[in-house]
Amino acid sequence: MRQKIVAGNWKMNKTLEEAKALTFELLRLVDGTTKAKVVLCTPFPYLLPIKELLGDNKQIKVAAQNCSEHESGAYTGEVSAAMLKSMDVPYVILGHSERRQYFGEDGKLLAKKIDKALEHHVTPIFCCGEPLEIREKGTHEELVKQQIEESLFHLSGEVLEHHVVIAYEPVWAIGTGKTATSQQAQDMHAVIRKHIASKYSQTVANSIPILYGGSVGAANAKELFSNPDVDGGLVGGASLKSKDFSEIVKAI
Ligand code: PGA
Repeated sequence: MRQKIVAGNWKMNKTLEEAKALTFELLRLVDGTTKAKVVLCTPFPYLLPIKELLGDNKQIKVAAQNCSEHESGAYTGEVSAAMLKSMDVPYVILGHSERRQYFGEDGKLLAKKIDKALEHHVTPIFCCGEPLEIREKGTHEELVKQQIEESLFHLSGEVLEHHVVIAYEPVWAIGTGKTATSQQAQDMHAVIRKHIASKYSQTVANSIPILYGGSVGAANAKELFSNPDVDGGLVGGASLKSKDFSEIVKAI
């Protein structure tokens, strides 16, 4: 059985006080309601305080939203995978479409970030997904396969099988309220799994959790999560509200 995961991507939102209040509420609403892992992807400065609030909670964990491709050194403003590890942060989002779009991150750079995260035993949540014009052209499957090849296919099957999470997030569905249909999500997840099976093996492909992201909400989560190849969600907007997010967690 693949690990089910519901991750909340807070992006650049909330003051520390608000972040703590949200976590406190989530502990109350979510704890013990599901076997899924719940991951709170907080801004860097909140990782430790939120982690402290969670205590030794087995189900709810924190994640970073990015890390550097460099080990250490003169990179003002950057945060390394080694730093994340030293704070015992188990996950990091890499390759989010906002990082690709606003910070020019491409597949090659992301491959380096993936390597750094894995080197320090931080599990990458690798995001892929096509913009609207590619979906309209009908080449979305090719693009997503290429994104995965560029950033993940240099890894060994062993590493991919046990230490990587993938999130499929069609760019046109992020923050737009326009979610992919349940069928569109399932189809792409199956394409991703098949592509991994063709390069590695069915065993490797079957082991990797693939999350769906893009306007996941309390109303559509259940249907999206009911697909055989959808192992959970990466949730943006709705993860900022404790009630919505806890309902999404319960939908899995
Ligand atoms: P959204 O964001 O749920 O607000 O669409 C998802 C994401 O960017 O991960």
